[in-house]
Amino acid sequence: MKTQVAIIGAGPAGLLLGHLLKAAKIDCVVIERQKPNYILGRIRAGVLERITVDLMARLGLDARLRAEGLVEEGFNLADGERLIRIDVANLTGKTVLIYGQTEITRDLMDAAPERGLTVIYGVNDVALFDIEGDAPYVTYSLDGAQQRIDARFLIGCDGFHGPSRKAIPDGVAREYERVYPFGWLGILADVPPCHHELIYANHDRGFALASMRSHARSRYYVDVALSEKVEDWSDERIWDELAVRLGPEAAANMTRGPSIEKSIAPLRSYVFEPMRHGSLLLCGDAAHIVPPTGAKGLNLAASDVHYAAEALTAFFQRNDNDAVAGYAARALARVWKSERFSWTLTKLMHRFPEDGPFERAMQVAELDYISGSVAAQTSIAENYVGLPV
Ligand code: APR
Ligand code: PHB
Repeated sequence: MKTQVAIIGAGPAGLLLGHLLKAAKIDCVVIERQKPNYILGRIRAGVLERITVDLMARLGLDARLRAEGLVEEGFNLADGERLIRIDVANLTGKTVLIYGQTEITRDLMDAAPERGLTVIYGVNDVALFDIEGDAPYVTYSLDGAQQRIDARFLIGCDGFHGPSRKAIPDGVAREYERVYPFGWLGILADVPPCHHELIYANHDRGFALASMRSHARSRYYVDVALSEKVEDWSDERIWDELAVRLGPEAAANMTRGPSIEKSIAPLRSYVFEPMRHGSLLLCGDAAHIVPPTGAKGLNLAASDVHYAAEALTAFFQRNDNDAVAGYAARALARVWKSERFSWTLTKLMHRFPEDGPFERAMQVAELDYISGSVAAQTSIAENYVGLPV
């Protein structure tokens, strides 16, 4: 098979890019290892920045997110006693949208057939070749038969564990990584949220987050040591822990109910450079990971995809090579700022085992400073709502 752009991975990054290229009349094919139901079973964060909403709107795929999404004008930091509200709408003139990131993937997946976007699910043994030239190709097996797609560009949207990043030679690659000494234990339940806005709490017993998917579905997290096992956390134990860590006000409004999903996710900060090598571009988790504090993962994938779509459109519509050459620098400038914000918020809101009384005093001082400073709140708000693309 021959196409202009072969996209590896049909997560939100790959599907969004496929749709944007199709809309620009650029030929592309998406190949994906999993089947659709597996992909839709992955529970992800639920806060959308303007860039993500705007891209869905540009594609005309925003009807459901506009109907079902909850517009959020602010969020809260809790320090064990009080709620420090960050009035995002007043400080930035913008809002975020609560809408499950899995639902974005579903909307993109459902629209693929009607937009003529080819997505081949269930492929195995994906391998990338000749990425340093201008005739790269990708091979895979499907139902036991070996297949090949020739393209002008390959785009790695295959997440943290995919093969694309590994195709870039060691000599040109550089990795930056921070693995955190805890994970987030998440619980999803069909109960109303304890508060109409998100609460990120730093309590003596650890971190907690109160989030939601809708007025009837809540998503909560507590941080736990990496040695913890999800089987040791009954629903009741999680609700008890949340009630303590989120503070008395949230606890009083918290409705408990049976979990419909429960899992522990490790936290990591990771950046791979460069995000382009020859005819291979990387987008989303294939190139970088942020810890979930701040919910930047999907939004960062969306800005990468936006830059990649612009670069590829310039190439195919105007014979302009410069945009592709500039892709990595443009994407990384925003990636590093999102990494900084996610890391800062993670440091501020978690207890690190290696921290002593001084580091704890710094957290207390910083939260106190934030509570009284419009400048500090504005800085947090503009990052939370999403930096310009
Ligand atoms: N061959 C084909 N597909 C692959 C392979 C492979 N060898 N390896 C991985 N994939 C697929 C995965 O199955 C997955 O569907 O690539 C896709 C990558 O999707 P994600 O991991 O969701 O990554 P991305 O699309 O970059 O999503 C970015 O969205 O939901 C949020 O927080 C999430 O940070 C993440 C962000
Ligand atoms: C979520 O709703 O799952 C969520 C919200 C905010 C975060 C992370 C996860 O920072």
